[in-house]
Amino acid sequence: MLVIALCKGRFLEPSLNLLARTDIRFSEDIASSRKLIFDSENGRYRAVLVKPADVPTYVEYGAADIGIAGRDVILESRADLLQPLDLNFGHCKIAVAGPKGANSINGSDHPTIRVATKYPHITLDYYNSRGIPVEIISLSGSIELAPLIGLADRIVDLVETGRTLKENGLEILEVIAESSARLLINRAGYQTKRDEVMNLIQGLEKVIR
Ligand code: PRP
Repeated sequence: MLVIALCKGRFLEPSLNLLARTDIRFSEDIASSRKLIFDSENGRYRAVLVKPADVPTYVEYGAADIGIAGRDVILESRADLLQPLDLNFGHCKIAVAGPKGANSINGSDHPTIRVATKYPHITLDYYNSRGIPVEIISLSGSIELAPLIGLADRIVDLVETGRTLKENGLEILEVIAESSARLLINRAGYQTKRDEVMNLIQGLEKVIR
């Protein structure tokens, strides 16, 4: 049996749709259930539901053989994983944003720029690579609020439609990376369960094409 870690939240429905199109179906309504473990109808797969940022951890430690998560959380996790497939949904950008009209990535009055984010590693790497001193303010949501009430000069966050930025008077200053849903595979599992894993990859590849 292959264990697949799936994200709760907005990735869940597209992930389940994709699996269903490769004939991996679950008799229970995963989206409305409070259960966290579900076995597929054919008994060959087990889905476990976890927070998006935790998917790479479950797969890296082998608690799940496979996972579906955004490239954003994979980059942030720095987990050692195989990423054989872009699943072609959940497209968005990881971007530096700030108040409209602030046209540089460092618009702070202070020598150190304060950046609010739920991606501290990505943010630190980005500013370090440019030699810009940065103070990271780690938040877990509503990141766009931070520059509006003086908590930070800039944010590093996901931008999908751009609506949240626009409605809060913010704009993208620089795109750090493009993100989309990726298939993750545990390195050891890729060797020990090679046939099952390859089967799944090939099934998904066909559907994505
Ligand atoms: C994400 C992200 C932005 C928003 C971007 O937040 O952090 O706030 O979506 O989407 P948009 O460009 O389509 O407006 P999420 O909805 O996950 O909530 P959060 O504030 O709790 O992180």
